Amino acid sequence: MLQGWLKPIGNRLLTGGPPVTGKGRKKPSENPIIKNMKNYRVAILGCRSRGTSAAKAYHAHPRTEIVALCDLVQERLETLGNIVNVSAHFTDIDEMIRQTTPDIVAIPTATEAHYPLCMRVLEHGVNIEVEKPLCIDLVEADEVLAKAKEKNARVAVHHQRRTSPSMHAVAKALDEGKIGDIRYIYASGKGYYAGYGLMNIGTHVVNNMLRFGGKCRSVVAQVTSGGRDLIHDDVLPSPAGMGTVAGEYATATLQFDGNVTGTLIQHRFPKVDTDAYVMELYGTEGRLFWSELKGSWWLPTPHFVPDGTHDQWQALPSIYPEHFDPDKGADADDYCFVDEYVNALDENREHESNGEEGRHVIEILMAIFESAVHGTRVELPQKNREHPLLKWHAEAGLGEIRDMPRDYGTWLSLEDERLYK
Ligand SMILES: NC(=O)c1ccc[n+]([C@@H]2O[C@H](COP(=O)([O-])OP(=O)(O)OC[C@H]3O[C@@H](n4cnc5c(N)ncnc54)[C@H](O)[C@@H]3O)[C@@H](O)[C@H]2O)c1
Repeated sequence: MLQGWLKPIGNRLLTGGPPVTGKGRKKPSENPIIKNMKNYRVAILGCRSRGTSAAKAYHAHPRTEIVALCDLVQERLETLGNIVNVSAHFTDIDEMIRQTTPDIVAIPTATEAHYPLCMRVLEHGVNIEVEKPLCIDLVEADEVLAKAKEKNARVAVHHQRRTSPSMHAVAKALDEGKIGDIRYIYASGKGYYAGYGLMNIGTHVVNNMLRFGGKCRSVVAQVTSGGRDLIHDDVLPSPAGMGTVAGEYATATLQFDGNVTGTLIQHRFPKVDTDAYVMELYGTEGRLFWSELKGSWWLPTPHFVPDGTHDQWQALPSIYPEHFDPDKGADADDYCFVDEYVNALDENREHESNGEEGRHVIEILMAIFESAVHGTRVELPQKNREHPLLKWHAEAGLGEIRDMPRDYGTWLSLEDERLYK
């Protein structure tokens, strides 16, 4: 599973890319090993929060060059332009692509804009990376992947944890047989209202599970709001433009290939808690634990029995690309996501977090909603690609779902009033 070579440096393991040393690293053009390798031209479409993170990662990577920035807001173009030293600024996407001929367009924009922007960029036959989730439903996701195929372009979805240094450590331990064969995966979000949490953080959580579980074949879910089963009135527009959602507490069982089962927990907590965002792999001979905040751990026995004397979990060193320089301002996980795109394009293969995987994530999220409202097991992939909540609502003859505010805090206050007044 793990690509490239491994090299321990201090307490870190470094992997991927040519073996040049970190501190004295030469520019790609001067480096004898990579001088003949292509540098990829990148345009950033959307220069706010996630666009800034993406731009910093592409700016820091030795094999990518940002050739253009695009935003509708001039001030954002200037601010990001100053950070990554790019003066080619555009407000028109098509014009930007025509003038600067990028190899990759990054699309870090609000989720409801993913579909129209992906379609517009793909029309030019350019590879894209789009923020997670790929789209708000399967109809949109299918169209984006069909357009990419028609135009012979690649799609990567910015699930940056999937190829992160700490996730590589888990993959390496698994490849080395440290836990035997996986039989079960536990994973949790960080406490958002479940419907919104699934589309927001659940997309990462499911994608992380897919790295180790393989394809998901079926889903069974229990979802409640206000302590009862879902009713039609619980179907709502998501905060932050993430489509249609329902449910405060969600627990889903996922059946993966190879006899692996998983539990996905997306429960609303009184306060969002990033410590809860974890994944645990249960193997025949041990366990592996991954946390966004606390890195990766190995338990060399399948069952943890507290004995009051010592903690049996052992830390696993994160694995960074050899050329990653933490002083260059990029987040390590975003940098690794970029590095994986460079490697994938070099090798004429898909990104580990590719469009098919991004669509499979949405299949699983939609299956959770569908299973919850119908009380059934949902086989994947679904034949009917409509949003299951909108379909359920429409079939009850209830017309359009009501409006809700976009801001999560305001949205949540209204929900608390409705459910608990
Ligand atoms: N991967 C992660 O860890 C992570 C974390 C947070 C959010 N996200 C995802 O990131 C996305 C939101 O990112 P954000 O908050 O930076 O988005 P945003 O909507 O705040 O910013 C998007 C920018 O794109 C610009 N834009 C929109 N349409 C445009 C167009 N047609 N032409 C040119 N510019 C255009 C806007 O002016 C804005 O500056 C969501 O999909 C969310 O799920 C991912």
